[in-house]
Formats: sequence, C-alpha cells, structure tokens
Amino acid sequence: MRRVVARGVAAASPELAHSVHVEVNGLRPGHDYFYQFDMRDEESTVGHFRTTPSRHELVRQVRFAFVTCQDWPSGFYTAYRDMIQNDLDLVFHLGDYTYEYAIDGITGRGIPVPAGFGEETVDLRTYRLRHTLYKLDSDLQAAHAKFPFAVIWDDHEVQNDYSGLAPEFGSPSPEFTARRAAAYQAYYEHMPIRADIAKKPAPGLRIYRQLRFGTLAEFTLLDDRQYRTDNPCGDGEALRCDEALTGDYTMLGRQQERWLARGFNKSSARWNIVAQQLLIAELEHTLPGYPDEWYWNDAWDGYPLARQRLLRDVVESGLSNPVFLTGDWHSTFANDLKLNFKDQASAAVAAEFVTPAITTGGDGTPYGPYYSPMIPFNPHIKYYEGDKRGYFKATVTESEMELDLRFMTSVEDPNGVGYTERTFFVQDGKPGVSL
Ligand SMILES: [Fe+2]
Repeated sequence: MRRVVARGVAAASPELAHSVHVEVNGLRPGHDYFYQFDMRDEESTVGHFRTTPSRHELVRQVRFAFVTCQDWPSGFYTAYRDMIQNDLDLVFHLGDYTYEYAIDGITGRGIPVPAGFGEETVDLRTYRLRHTLYKLDSDLQAAHAKFPFAVIWDDHEVQNDYSGLAPEFGSPSPEFTARRAAAYQAYYEHMPIRADIAKKPAPGLRIYRQLRFGTLAEFTLLDDRQYRTDNPCGDGEALRCDEALTGDYTMLGRQQERWLARGFNKSSARWNIVAQQLLIAELEHTLPGYPDEWYWNDAWDGYPLARQRLLRDVVESGLSNPVFLTGDWHSTFANDLKLNFKDQASAAVAAEFVTPAITTGGDGTPYGPYYSPMIPFNPHIKYYEGDKRGYFKATVTESEMELDLRFMTSVEDPNGVGYTERTFFVQDGKPGVSL
C-alpha cells in the first residue's frame, strides 16, 4: 500500500453494527485497486477490486462468476477457494447468502455450532449474528478480498418463500414488516452495497440496479422478492389456478418492471445479462400420478402473466443477446426461454443458466431423483443436474459467451476440489443455449 491514491475517515456507528460503506470517487475506469482499513493499531487484510470500464469503451472481454445458496451448516465454502484461482472482473451473488433456520448439533461441516444459533433468526440481533457467523469463513473472506461482489438477495436472507410483505404462510402483519426490515438492515450492514443506494435501509431497500461494461455488456440485477404480490395460486407445488391466467399480480412490482423495460429499450450493449433469483423457464411437474399443469409456485411458474410480460419486453425491445442468470433452485439448469413453452416450434428468445448451490443440500441427493424424470417432458430445458454443488464462471467476448460449470467433489470434506463438469455457450446473434 505504498502508492496511495485516496484515503479518508469513516465513522463506524453502533446503529449500523459498526459497518462502513465507503464511496471512493475519481478512480480510473477498468483499473485494479487495493484497499485497507486502519482502526487505531489494527490493520485489516488488503482487499482488491477492479473498477468497471467506462460506458463507451470498446471492451473485448468480461469474466465473472455467479453463485447462490450458501447455507453455512450444509458444508464448506470450498467453491470460493476454487474460484479465487481465477482472474474475474466480478462475482454476482444471486441470493440465499445467509439462511434463517435454527442451526443445531453437528453440521455438514462436522463441527458443533457456537451457542446462540439454535433459534430461527427473527430480529436485528439474530440476523446480525447470522451474517457474522457466515462472514467468519476464511474462504468467503478470501473471495470478497479478491473480487468485487454485486449482490441481490433471495428469500432466506429474511424467511423461506416470503412475498413482499407477506410471510411464507399468512398475510402481511406488523410483526413480519418489522422482521423484514430487521433482515434488510442486517443485510445492508454486512454486504457490499453502496451507501447512496440506501441512506436509510428500513423498511424497504432498493437493490435492483445496472452495471455497464463498456460497449460489450450491460448487467441488470433484479429483486424478485421485495415487491411481488403473494403467489396467485398459493404456496408450494400446486395446480395452476384461474387467478394465474387472469389476475392482476406482479413478480417485480410495477415500478421495477417499468424500469427494466426502459433499460431494455435503451440498451446499446452487445450482451444484456440479467441476474435474478427465481427459475424463469417453465417446469411442468409431469410425472405418473400428477395432474397436468402442476407447478412450483414460488418461482416464475407461479406468476405466468408476469413472466409473459418480462419475455415480451425482451422481444419487443429488440434486446441484443439476452441471457438470464438464476439462483435459488439448488440445481443446475441450462434453458431456452420461449414465449410459448408448450410449443416446441416456438423460438428461443433468451438463454437461462441456473447456478448450483455453493453448499445448500450438502453432499446429499435431495433433488436429482425427484426432478430428473420430469425434464424430458420440458424439452426447452437443455441440461439439468440436481445434486452437485458448485458455481458457474463465464467469459463474454464479442462473438460468444462461454460458461464453465464448476462442480465440487465434496462440500462436506474441507479438502473438496472443483472440476469443470462441462462448458456451455451462447453465440452472438443466436438466442438460447448452444450445447
Ligand atoms: Fe437456497
């Protein structure tokens, strides 16, 4: 830290859990920097980041990873140890950074949890403690120190499958409003979010935003949780109901939806990459004994008219090379998105890649045996794997996007290692997945 380009003083107040959100102006675009904090006689470890290139710069390549679902008791963050061997411009975290559930007994890490985690998180004190537990992991620390993170939350930073101000079961209440505000505040305190996005985090917090990498790529980060109406056909797995086909409901909220459509219309980037939480592709649960039109309602399948508006906005804006990055499912998918999933002749309008969990599910097989038999009935799903943990890393150039699917040999063994399971492509000018 010899050539100092900027220094300053920030107050770490107890009201925000002694966190600081530093805004440094005047840095060069597309440039590497290092940073460090001093407090009295203490020095922090040195962190690194790369600024985004300026809007009109002719950028030849962007490299990034995208991750989701890192339940601490499910296993070790060895996927981050694997990731930091790369030179990436940034990391997208698509949510479930923390989980709210009580942690008891021996975990997938093989060690007992310190006292104080045996209850579900419900208030500012317990949400803060949960972030602290996760952030003490040395692999996660190393990833944050090496790469800038662009983060959005999903449900578990607050509560499983909540919608807007409605908890998983039941309707909005002052208790849940207060709980959500506490969870959002703890998230704001512990995550790399710009101070100018949220001077005052409670009760809402805007996390949707855009990041531009010169002429090459525009990244749009969405919030599928905070503004959505409650699932029109109820929670969990259910038959599609009339309300889903006629109702006035929303996934993004009207304001975010309009903001997104405007962004699509304005974008001049060659690649338009949308980072968001929930599975967009239809996954009809076609299995012996199931009725037709049976879906998982927490994802976009529970909000089909909202999904139709989203995909229509993609098509009608003439968006160049749309690609969606998705989290949440603890499985890996590569999907063609279509205006009509039921029609095999319907053209792909975008590609969707669902990144596996960093740890959630551990080394078990919770999903593969259940979902795999449904996949052949959903032919727009080009690839599915349910029981491996890991992440995607991607390289975007003018001619193509290349995605390496990195799986871990184990997440319950602290010495688990990563390997490339396979590589996917999206070609410039050709919507959808190229295998
Ligand atoms: Fe998750």
